[in-house]
Amino acid sequence: MLNGKVAVVTGASRGIGASVARKLASQGADVAIIYCGSEDKAQAVKESIISEYGVKAFAYKCDVADLNACTETVKQITADLGGVDILVNNAGVTRDNLLVMMGEEDFDKVVDTNLKGTFNMIKVCARGFIRKKKGKIINISSVSGLSGIAGQSNYSASKAGVIGLTKAVAKELGGKNVCCNAIAPGFIMTDMTKELGSEEEFLKAIPLKRLGKTEDVANLAAFLADEASDYITGEVIRIDGGLAM
Ligand SMILES: NC(=O)c1ccc[n+]([C@@H]2O[C@H](COP(=O)([O-])OP(=O)(O)OC[C@H]3O[C@@H](n4cnc5c(N)ncnc54)[C@H](O)[C@@H]3O)[C@@H](O)[C@H]2O)c1
Repeated sequence: MLNGKVAVVTGASRGIGASVARKLASQGADVAIIYCGSEDKAQAVKESIISEYGVKAFAYKCDVADLNACTETVKQITADLGGVDILVNNAGVTRDNLLVMMGEEDFDKVVDTNLKGTFNMIKVCARGFIRKKKGKIINISSVSGLSGIAGQSNYSASKAGVIGLTKAVAKELGGKNVCCNAIAPGFIMTDMTKELGSEEEFLKAIPLKRLGKTEDVANLAAFLADEASDYITGEVIRIDGGLAM
């Protein structure tokens, strides 16, 4: 259980992030929902968490690619909820295209959000974890970062970068009792994957013969946030129905 813990989940206004925030709240954690698009969705997630689970929840608009914004947001979270115990770096974007067609801005946008955003949030939360001599960092990577996917050179690079970052942080902060792990989802049904189409093609390649649910990823994130996983760090766990085996 996560009673008394404070969890920060980035990109939690919808999709996997919203499911992770709900799951951690269902285990008793107070949650900070970080979002960057429509305020309505973030507020709706916040309100439903408060009414369903009776924990504290706040929503914060913050572009994770902006280090100053992350610093100010974590200061506000600390004022509202106390220090951070669990950080879930979930915010992510895609800008798919073949490499020869890909604009520089599409490469930068994806790397800045997915990789630099993860670095920024870890950097601003790390001192608090070190002071407490305890912390859980969970980074959402992708099977695209493990295997590489044609048409996703920017996204694959950013998600492979998240894996390297995870392992370096696990080594740096392990002595302070801070665990840092990555989750590599396969094809999970969200707004992000709606655009991809060709569901049948993916199903052929998935041994478990179904697409993933956001709750599948949330359950794993909850395990990595809990003391049940206290001896696991620097690990990358695929959750893909066997897709990238
Ligand atoms: N859906 C999948 O199949 C799948 C597979 C592998 C990995 N992932 C990863 O899981 C994570 C969530 O994916 P999803 O499918 O729920 O996506 P989504 O597009 O439904 O949600 C992404 C969330 O990130 C937020 N976000 C985007 N840019 C941001 C920024 N700069 N600052 C703060 N928030 C920002 C969005 O507002 C949104 O809440 C992403 O990192 C994604 O790469 C998803």
